[in-house]
Amino acid sequence: MTNFFEQERPSSFEVIQLLEQLKKNDIPWKSGRVMAYVYEPEPEAYALIQKAYMMFLTENGLDPTAFSSLLKMEQEVIDAALQLVGGTEQSAGNFTFGGTESIILAVKAARDYARDMYPHIKQPNIVLAETGHAAFFKACHYLCLETKVIPVDAETFTPNPEDYRNAIDENTVMVVASTPSYAHGVIDPVEDIAKIAKEKGVLCHVDACVGGMYLPFAKRAGFDIPNFDFTVDGVTSISMDFHKYGYTAKGASAILYKDRELRKYQIYTCSSWSGYSVVNPTVLSSKTGGSLAACWANMNFIGAKGFEEIVKETETAKGKVVDAIKNMKGIRLLGKPIMNMVAFAGDGVDLFSLSKRMNDMGWYIQLQFKAGISPTNIHLSINRANVPHIDAFIEDLGKVVQDLLDNPPNDALPFPAEMLEGITPEMVQQLKTVLGVGDGEAPSDLTMVNRILDAVSPAKRDMILREFVNGLFR
Ligand SMILES: Cc1ncc(COP(=O)(O)O)c(C=O)c1O
Repeated sequence: MTNFFEQERPSSFEVIQLLEQLKKNDIPWKSGRVMAYVYEPEPEAYALIQKAYMMFLTENGLDPTAFSSLLKMEQEVIDAALQLVGGTEQSAGNFTFGGTESIILAVKAARDYARDMYPHIKQPNIVLAETGHAAFFKACHYLCLETKVIPVDAETFTPNPEDYRNAIDENTVMVVASTPSYAHGVIDPVEDIAKIAKEKGVLCHVDACVGGMYLPFAKRAGFDIPNFDFTVDGVTSISMDFHKYGYTAKGASAILYKDRELRKYQIYTCSSWSGYSVVNPTVLSSKTGGSLAACWANMNFIGAKGFEEIVKETETAKGKVVDAIKNMKGIRLLGKPIMNMVAFAGDGVDLFSLSKRMNDMGWYIQLQFKAGISPTNIHLSINRANVPHIDAFIEDLGKVVQDLLDNPPNDALPFPAEMLEGITPEMVQQLKTVLGVGDGEAPSDLTMVNRILDAVSPAKRDMILREFVNGLFR
């Protein structure tokens, strides 16, 4: 570590060179072989996004009266989003920096609405399926709500609406449905869940973070998409992200309410300190206008017709992948993916080795640990940049699966699973030494780390991950 006080001042050119150097070990997202993390826009859209972002880099979203440009762009982006999900004149929403922020705001609005309307509720809870996104657990953790988790079916990975009815109690403020849930790309039965929520007098949030910029276009293109939006009676809020299948720069999502009245509970105000009046509709206070401008530019440039075209081509690619997986011995498809997110489990094939082999061949796919009813699996988020590479992907996957079937790898853990379950934070440090994982650096080969994480219970996994990450960052 260089001494910051004594460091010589480099030229801006040298700084850029250093940045270029840093980028070299990142995953090569421009390769078209990345099926996680990045939703790559087409080149012209990418150039536009960069330009728009830079144009509004310094404008501050803190105060909508100071930068009318940002207010106008936000109004227009939210208006478009509301049109996509069946909003009405009475509907409202805000631009946020990500799905997690949108979800935190939905939970806050539900909590504060309940505080106002049902003051007897002292310990509020939300009801969600075990496939609901971790962001809801995080939101409840931050905002002191409880989560009531209901199981999903082992074949469809969707919950039974009647389980929502049974789980809702006098302290429930909101239920959650996912469209789709990230892990398996399946859609919860929103109509039935929202009906029960309405009957029971609780709010119903639809998490369309990943589906919001996809399902409406898929529906328009004639695909069989179940009703999931504000046209469904009982749905009160929706989260949808632009920085996923909206293909814009990161830091772009929306939280939408069917009724503007509910949005009031999302807004935080503070006039009781000595500075400027704080009026924050969202979590962040000072914030760049860049991601909003990029999103606005991209939405206008691609347009509804452009998004529909993208959805059509990715649906075709997804169909090929699904068919290929169904026909491969050694792996099996999980659930019935409605959009272009697919998960498959091992059926004789070691997924940790598969993941590493595919990675070595330049494919970036996502390992998901077993949790609840869901077995260890590989997740693919197929995006438009993958489309020209999809046949090559299927071919490589087929070869790797066959090779692993023919030559099964050594899949032994360094310690028996029961022993790992007894691991303490101090032992994690020793384990890191055994695995050759130093502080401050991500392991180059995650195969054994992943095996260990998969073998332990979720609570232990959380502890191990916290230890790893605490060592990773300075
Ligand atoms: C269904 C769903 N909800 C919420 C999120 C959280 O979004 P973000 O990573 O933008 O915070 C994701 C992310 O993949 C998601 O798929």
